[in-house]
Order: sequence, then C-alpha cells, then structure tokens
Amino acid sequence: MNPRFPFPAYPNGWFALGFTPEFPEGEVVTRHAFGQDIVVYRTRDGLRSSDPHCPHLGAHFGFGGRVIDDKLRCPFHGWCFDAAGQCVDIPGAIKIPPKAKLRSWPMREQNGVVFAHYDAEGQPPEWGIPMLPDDGWTPNQTVLWTVRSHPQEILENTVDSAHLIPVHAVNSATICRAPVEEGPMFNVALNLIADGAIVNMPGTVNDVVLDVTMHGLGFLVSLCEVRNVGLLARQRIYCTPIDEERTEIRGVVNLQKFSDDATDQQVAELFYQAYVYDFALDFPIWENKVYRDKPILSNADGPFMTYRKWARQFYSGGVKTAVEPLSLQHVEVRA
Ligand code: FES
Ligand SMILES: [Fe+2]
Repeated sequence: MNPRFPFPAYPNGWFALGFTPEFPEGEVVTRHAFGQDIVVYRTRDGLRSSDPHCPHLGAHFGFGGRVIDDKLRCPFHGWCFDAAGQCVDIPGAIKIPPKAKLRSWPMREQNGVVFAHYDAEGQPPEWGIPMLPDDGWTPNQTVLWTVRSHPQEILENTVDSAHLIPVHAVNSATICRAPVEEGPMFNVALNLIADGAIVNMPGTVNDVVLDVTMHGLGFLVSLCEVRNVGLLARQRIYCTPIDEERTEIRGVVNLQKFSDDATDQQVAELFYQAYVYDFALDFPIWENKVYRDKPILSNADGPFMTYRKWARQFYSGGVKTAVEPLSLQHVEVRA
C-alpha cells in the first residue's frame, strides 16, 4: 500500500520499463519497478525479463550477468536459464535441480517502448496495449521524470478539466465528449482555448481538441489537434510505479508529418518543448496534495467519479473506501 492512497501501490496491467535503445543486444539491464529490481535482456526472439537474484546462491544477474545463446548466464557459478526461466545448464553438473527456475515477467515491446506486465496475484495478461501507427509521424522524442505520486492520481489529471486554467494557463477548458469506457480502455475528449504563446505562436489563439485514451493505469495516448492551424500532435504518457511512493513517468511526443522533413522536425521540437514544460507544471501539486477519497465537487469539475470507478478494476484486492489517512490530514492542518 502507498500510505497516501486508499488503493494498492501497484495496480495490475502493462507498465513501461524503458525505451527500446536502452536494451541493446547482449546486455543485462536492471530496472526498478513494483518495489523490486527486474533484469531485462534481449534474445533473438525478443525481450525477456526475470527476478534479479539467482535461485542458486543469490547473485544479482544485473552485476556481471551475460546473455549467451539466448540464455541468461549467472555471473557467480555460470548457471544458465532459458527464456521461460528454467535452468538448463550447470557447469560440471549431471543433473539440474527442477526447482532451479526464475520467475519471468510477461514482456512487450511496441512503438519504441518496453513493457512488463504486473499482476499482484501472478495472473497472466488478459489484455494488451494497442500498436500505434509510426508511419506518417515524426520520430519519438522522449523524456523521463520521477515523481512522488501514484499512476492513478497522475492519470486522473485527464478528467480534471478545471485545473487546466490555473495550472496550465489555458483560457477555457471543457469536456467535449463524455467518457467512453470499454474494459481496460477509457477515453475522454476536451476542448481548450489557449494563447498561442504557450507553444511559441504569439499572437494566435489556439483552438485545441485533446482526445485522450488510457489503456490501464500505465499508458495514455493523447491526440492533440490544433484546429486553427491544422496540426496534429501525439503525446504518450507511461506511468510506472517504482516503489510505494514514486512513479516514473515516460513521455513521448510525435507530430503528424505535414511538410518537408526539416519543417516537420522544427515544429515537432516546438511541441516537444512545450509539452515537457507544460506537463511538469503539475508535479508540485501531485507531490504535495492529499488524496480526497470523497471530494467535494462542483459542476465545474470533470467526471472524477466515473474515472475512479473505472480504475478500480486494476486492483486484485479491491479498493478501500475509507476516509483519508489521519496522519496526512494532520500534516495538511499544520501546513
Ligand atoms: S549464484 Fe547464480 S550460479 Fe551460483
Ligand atoms: Fe495537468
């Protein structure tokens, strides 16, 4: 449990562990997610991952482990594990103990992002994250932040139309399409009117439609159409809870190509810079707020409760609906 929230620290679903170039062939890469290290390595059949410590005498594969013939080789005594995590070779041994097995994590790699599937009860994935088209879009421009918050809290921002004026300096923000839910998918669309200076277009007033789709609590794609200039940008957010308090946020920006490569790249860079600046404006709020389980809402607020009800499906053990933790209320009073 994250002590700040009445739901588990680690929701079930697909969560990003990094971008494709971070996982070169032959290397054993360590990532921290869901409160533990995970080692990731590339074989001819794609990416594999496992718990970090060898079942033999506990060496950490991320410190000297190697990939040999698509097998993970422990740095300590050379035991080798196949893609399913089974030990298949022990130097000098005739018999392999059947219990010599590693837990391996379901993995996916798509659109330049590497995912692991987390399930609190070890259940296999029942749904996936859809592939996005790459053709016709500028290359991925990426960013990584670590924020003291929780994926559910971060993605709640998408239904919070009322914060866009004070935090993101837009002139007006309205939900222009009510949420659509389909299993692990949640979609909502917002219309923003914003001063062009925010994206280095001084003197214009931008009319923007944000069409936002979440797939679980680890992934969000937002199509950002600037209607007055006919541009379409795509922003992706990947939230990965790394421990009970912190979440890594990976962002990716693409622009739909509309001109020659040099112009596309120049405009994509503007969108990227604006996005990185704008997204980080929420961080001081997220890191210092408390979670109101039963917020007092007005008709100016977005569909928070629809979103929160949808989010419950990602917790195996259900969600407490208790009042906010007393200790945090105390901190708030003192502040
Ligand atoms: S600790 Fe891994 S082979 Fe001995
Ligand atoms: Fe925000």
